[in-house]
Amino acid sequence: MFRTGSRRNHDKGPAAEALRLVKVSKTYGSDDGAVAALDGVTLGLARGTFTAVMGPSGSGKSTLLQCAAGLDQPDSGIVQVDGTELTGGGEAELTKFRRGRIGFVFQQYNLLETLTVAQNTVLPLKLAGRRVDRRRAREVLEQVGLGDRLSHRPAQLSGGQRQRVAIARALVTEPRVIFADEPTGALDTRSARDVLRLLREAVQVHGRTVVMVTHDPVAASYADSVLFLADGRLVGQLDAPTADAVAERLAHLGDDVTVGV
Ligand SMILES: Nc1ncnc2c1ncn2[C@@H]1O[C@H](COP(=O)(O)OP(=O)(O)O)[C@@H](O)[C@H]1O
Ligand SMILES: [Mg+2]
Repeated sequence: MFRTGSRRNHDKGPAAEALRLVKVSKTYGSDDGAVAALDGVTLGLARGTFTAVMGPSGSGKSTLLQCAAGLDQPDSGIVQVDGTELTGGGEAELTKFRRGRIGFVFQQYNLLETLTVAQNTVLPLKLAGRRVDRRRAREVLEQVGLGDRLSHRPAQLSGGQRQRVAIARALVTEPRVIFADEPTGALDTRSARDVLRLLREAVQVHGRTVVMVTHDPVAASYADSVLFLADGRLVGQLDAPTADAVAERLAHLGDDVTVGV
């Protein structure tokens, strides 16, 4: 069960904070082989914001996203999405919450090859036991510029088009928060720009909150702010980022003092 306090908070309406992490830690392995993937991460993100997460390979970016999205459980700490605590709940309830409130976009799209574009798009509705109709599929696919591809299979699409289907799938439940792990990592520049515009539009037009891991300063410049991770800790933040400022900060990450966010 989620904490009743959290639920009461939730019933009052949307929380001001879309995501809150308090002292979240996660260690993989044990003894000599133990790796602290996350080491006491605390952060809060306002609703309707677009945040990029950057840092060296192995700094804990994916672990952060997985824990924040309820796809993985931290060892300690608190994760709240839209005012509801994910940590400490049962698996079944967590799954239900995740399906209703959270969207996830992966680098490798993770579409089901045997399903059509429309079927892939509405899969989260189906899994959540919600009404599935072709009209909703068409509506959300039109939003991502694929209104004429409903009956295609993923194999008939380009990488950029596949990722746009993945974004449609993430949008279809009208989630509070969309997490994207390197969503442009496998795309050419132009497709990447389409994907970034769609994510920004989800924030600016539809009021979603987007958290995106990226290693690309240009991609990060689409966000409202950038959080920098190193060795599982938050080590910096850059608001209103330009690609140049992000690249500059990345180059000097080791020089940063640890700051709370
Ligand atoms: N399933 C896992 N088992 C063991 N170690 C893991 C696992 N996932 C991640 N790690 C380790 O945790 C650290 C952070 O990984 P990750 O969150 O994937 O970093 P990033 O996404 O920034 O590259 C790395 O040292 C990685 O090797
Ligand atoms: Mg990663």
